[in-house]
Amino acid sequence: MSADWTAFRALFPTLGTKAYLASGSYGLLGAPVEAAIRQYMDDRLEKGADWGGWTAKADAVRDGMAALLNAGSDEIAVTASASAGINALASAVDFSGPRNKVVVSNFEFPTGAQIWHAQERRGAVVEHVPEGPDGGVPLEHFERAIDERTRLVQVTHVCYRNGQRLDVAGVVEIARRHGALVLLDCFQSVGAVDIDVKALGVDFAVGGMLKYLLGAAGIGFLYVDRARIAELVPTVGGWFAQADTNAMDIFANDPAPSAARFQAGTPPVMNAYAAEAGIGLIRERGVAAIEARIREITGEAMDRLAEAGCRLATPRDDARRGPQVAIRATDAAALTDRLAERGVIASWRDGNVRTMFHAYNDASDVGALIEALAANRELLA
Ligand SMILES: Cc1ncc(COP(=O)(O)O)c(C=O)c1O
Repeated sequence: MSADWTAFRALFPTLGTKAYLASGSYGLLGAPVEAAIRQYMDDRLEKGADWGGWTAKADAVRDGMAALLNAGSDEIAVTASASAGINALASAVDFSGPRNKVVVSNFEFPTGAQIWHAQERRGAVVEHVPEGPDGGVPLEHFERAIDERTRLVQVTHVCYRNGQRLDVAGVVEIARRHGALVLLDCFQSVGAVDIDVKALGVDFAVGGMLKYLLGAAGIGFLYVDRARIAELVPTVGGWFAQADTNAMDIFANDPAPSAARFQAGTPPVMNAYAAEAGIGLIRERGVAAIEARIREITGEAMDRLAEAGCRLATPRDDARRGPQVAIRATDAAALTDRLAERGVIASWRDGNVRTMFHAYNDASDVGALIEALAANRELLA
């Protein structure tokens, strides 16, 4: 580990006592983020209310997300959660005509399917894209589901259950051929994987700041391609979704000309302090360097896990995975508890123990994981 990453690791005090491998659940609290949260308290105590400063914080988060995703600030809505962003988008989609189909992969986080199923009452028809024989979701299955009736395709970047990465550019190419829109859920990759929404060609991207972005819960983002904004008018909204927040007009809804139209009420102020600092940490190191570091440490982990006889649900191929390495278990919940007893913090979904790495992890965390698994071999599948 280079001196640079040692210094980065030192910003996260929890790593002094834990092998923390749950960043895809909640990223660790870094010293600059802790300082930002304290700053919020100092500002509150000193100023009481500071609406100008608070909206500036939300705007700083907007600008930071835009820079990270290679988008414009006018293309970013600052929301209270990923779910809030998808809901606002769904409310703006018209399902009354023949193009009423929403295609969702079976790798979606529940929110990303449930919200589209909720639109069935508004005329939407939801079709799922199933896994193939190797457990991935192949492009041929998207090809079968996406057709001239498809309005929107929801695709996850890295699956929260097994760490598999989908071919987003491939899905976009199929969707384009059929005139369908694409929403990327990048919650399990943003901050850990370099994402260029323009290069990928997605129309929308959604996520939040509590995982690899090292911020806090209760704040998220929705990217909306500038070319799509005018045609989409959400039917959920509020005063922070208006063209002029201070217009205070109770006689009309006047949506912002930017992606801010997908916002609702008062921004999540305290969370914005944390999110600004977390995004700052990622941008300072550079997401490409963070991605390379994570690829190196997860690669090492996968090789050592395979040597130790573990069965993995995540493919070894670097192109088909992100920051998560999922380990098959006979009782994933029990194994996660046993690891925690040894100071190794992971998480579980499906039959897998999920180990989710950030650039602050190092070989000592991998070693602690291998040792803790070896002591609980009977729970490995
Ligand atoms: C991939 C993915 N999408 C969506 C969500 C839901 O996000 P939120 O709780 O902000 O709505 C999560 C939460 O873990 C997630 O991992």
